Formats: sequence, structure tokens, C-alpha cells
Amino acid sequence: MDHFLYRDGALFAEDVSVAEIAAAVGTPFYVYSTATLLRHFQLFDDALAGTDHLVCYAMKAASNQAILRTLAQAGAGMDVVSEGEYRRARAAGVPGEKIVFSGVGKTAREIRAALTDGIRQFNVESEPEMDVINAVALDLGVVAPITIRVNPDVDAKTHAKIATGKSENKFGIPISRASEVYARAAALPGLEVIGIDVHIGSQLTELEPFRLAYEKVAELTEQLRSEGHNIRRLDLGGGLGIPYTRSNDAPPLPVEYGQLIKDSLGHLGCEIEIEPGRLIAGNAGLLISDVIYVKSGEGRDFLIVDAAMNDLIRPAMYEAHHDIVAVKEPAPGTEMQPYDIVGPVCESGDTFAKQRNMPRLKSGDLIAFRSAGAYGAVMSSEYNTRPLIPEVLVNGDQFAVIRPRPTFDEIINRDTIPEWL
Ligand code: LLP
Repeated sequence: MDHFLYRDGALFAEDVSVAEIAAAVGTPFYVYSTATLLRHFQLFDDALAGTDHLVCYAMKAASNQAILRTLAQAGAGMDVVSEGEYRRARAAGVPGEKIVFSGVGKTAREIRAALTDGIRQFNVESEPEMDVINAVALDLGVVAPITIRVNPDVDAKTHAKIATGKSENKFGIPISRASEVYARAAALPGLEVIGIDVHIGSQLTELEPFRLAYEKVAELTEQLRSEGHNIRRLDLGGGLGIPYTRSNDAPPLPVEYGQLIKDSLGHLGCEIEIEPGRLIAGNAGLLISDVIYVKSGEGRDFLIVDAAMNDLIRPAMYEAHHDIVAVKEPAPGTEMQPYDIVGPVCESGDTFAKQRNMPRLKSGDLIAFRSAGAYGAVMSSEYNTRPLIPEVLVNGDQFAVIRPRPTFDEIINRDTIPEWL
């Protein structure tokens, strides 16, 4: 459920008309709903009620500080994967003790920044990384809290580019070697081993892969405890999928996911962390674009819109489907017609949808890409020297630009010309 609904024939974000925002900020832009963000966070928080837990929002999904602060004020922690994300979370007001640091390639510099300013834990992904965290901690005279990410060799049954839990993926240490690696970690004086971390992939649409992974984590917890490790925290990663279409086969709900966690791990008495990103932000954001031209091709019509692959790369990169709707609600019984919906970038990959049924549209009409809140704005680029597009946050009947559109001068003046030119 989200808060983007038609009212009196026009698409609204909560109580604000999308067309009104478009008139104020220009297109294209992203718009997020506070109520939807909070609702999705609350679903996870409620799903784990009764267990000691922290929902650490995977901020890679949508990292604007206004979004982070909205969630942090509701009690969320953050999952970060770079120094930039760490600093952004801190700038948004998230305390270090609610930030977990994930990622396969944390550098010594990143580790130092987090250890200096406060961190809940590092999710360690390899033995060399473990040694670097130990060395930096000793140098700073602190002890670094860590979990070790295990790779359970489970098929997440998702797109190959976002599956992370098979042994051929670059993530974590093989679960078969956990015993040995935990023993090594325990012997390093700069580390305090507090738990286990696992994350098997993103946009999972079934619970079974989670069940398989979490059962392995339960077994490993008992084994490591019997080997003398004080395993007291389990970070279970993110990955629960969202409905990208309004069909009936929606992915499992957070409450079902929470029940699975309790059933498979509840008996261990560990503190539970989860790192959902997409489910919190995905359906809380739209990309709004304007039709530049309607072009008749051979046997097909193109809608050339002012958003492009640099603004939303998911269709080009993962063949991802986003529902696309007209901002002006089609009257009941309106005849639909198929369009190829494309951006202005000079490559054929800049195609959002092929033969998508839409009401008849004309130049100047607004369209909305649904489910664009996660991995939308954060993955955008300035390819073709197209400015990064604004982000707007709606809260009830108010809206605010939370990232303005840069001017061309700001973009162009970032380049510096060497003196020999
Ligand atoms: N934790 C870790 C360690 C992760 O690597 C990820 C996502 C998450 C949590 C959050 O997963 P989520 O709940 O959002 O599924 N750009 C891709 C998705 C990449 C996901 C990367 N890792 C896309 O647009 O589909």
C-alpha cells in the first residue's frame, strides 16, 4: 500500500497534487511520501515486536538526509556501505551506535572514520578485512565490535545481478569455514566478536531462501557458542521484495517474514537486526516525467519523455519493470494504446518500457513511474550532462524540495582545465 492515489481525476502524493509539484519544481523529479516511508518501517518494526531488535534501513536504497531523518525519528538504525553513507547518516542525526557498516571492500580510511565517530558494528566480509579492522582499532586504542558475514550458499531466486548468497558470489566467508575464521577473529585483540551476519540478495519474492539461510545461521550460532564464542546478535540482512506490478502474486509480507525470523531463530535469545532497503523506500517514491514528443515509428509509437536512463537506470540495467501511469487519471472506459516509452539519451538502452498500454498522451502530459523510490535517485548519474533531478518529500499537505536541481554552471564548473591548455 502506498499514498499515491488519484483524487478527482489527478494523481496525488498524500494530500498534494503531483501536477502542482511539477509546476513548482519542473520535471523530471522524484517525489517521496513520508506516510508510506513510515508505514513500511513500522511494518518491519511491528513484525519483530516481542524480540529485542533494530531495523537498520539499508540507506543505499534512497539516501537523502530528509528520508534518513524521517526514519531515524521513528526509531530506525542505518545500514551503510561506504564512508559517504556513514557521514550522511551522521549528518542526518543518526547516532553511531545505531549504524552498522556492511560492504565487501571497506578501506582502512573508512574503518578509521567509523571507529573514530562511533559504530554499532562492522559486518566483516573477509579475513584480510578482519586484519585491517583489528589494526586500525589497535592504533586508535579501541575495540571494534564485529559480526562476520557468512555466505550460506543459498539460491535467493532473484535477478543474477542482485543475488549474493551463493558460493560463487563475492560476499561473505563460506559458512563451511566459519568455525576457523571465528577462532581467528577471537584471537585478535582489537576485535570483539558479537554475532553473525547474513544477506542473500535483493527483491526476494519467496520466504523459502530466507528460511534455508536462517536455519543455517541458527545451527552456526549453536556451534559457535559451543566453541566458546558469545554470539548475541544476528544481522539478517535485507532483501524482502516488493510488488512492482499490481498483480495478485505479491511477495510475502513483513509480518510473515518476521514470523519466519522468530520461528527459525527466536529460541536462540539473540538480538535481531534486519537491513531492509527496497521495501521501505521502493513504493514510497515516484519518478515524475513529462512527455516531450509523441513520435510515430514504423509499426509503433514512441513516447519520448524527459526522464532518461541516467535518472532511473533499473530498466536498462536489470530489465526491471516499473508501472507507468498518467498523472491525469484516464476516464473510465478510455481506450488504451501501446507505446514504447523512451528517454532522450543517445542509446537504445534508454528504453523504460516497450509496447506499454497507456491512454493516448500528448506533448506536455505528465507520467509517473511507480515503485521508483528505491535504487532510483541514488543510482542516477549526469550522463549526457543531464543534471541530477530534484527530490521532493511530501508530508500530508506539505511538500519540500529535499535536493534541488543543480544549475548547469554548478555542473560545468566542477571540471578544471590543466594549465597546459
Ligand atoms: N544489506 C546488504 C548487505 C545489502 O547488500 C543490501 C542490498 C541490503 C541490505 C538491502 O536490500 P533490499 O532490502 O533493498 O533488497 N540496485 C539494485 C538492488 C541492489 C541491492 C544491493 N544490496 C536494484 O535496483 O534492484
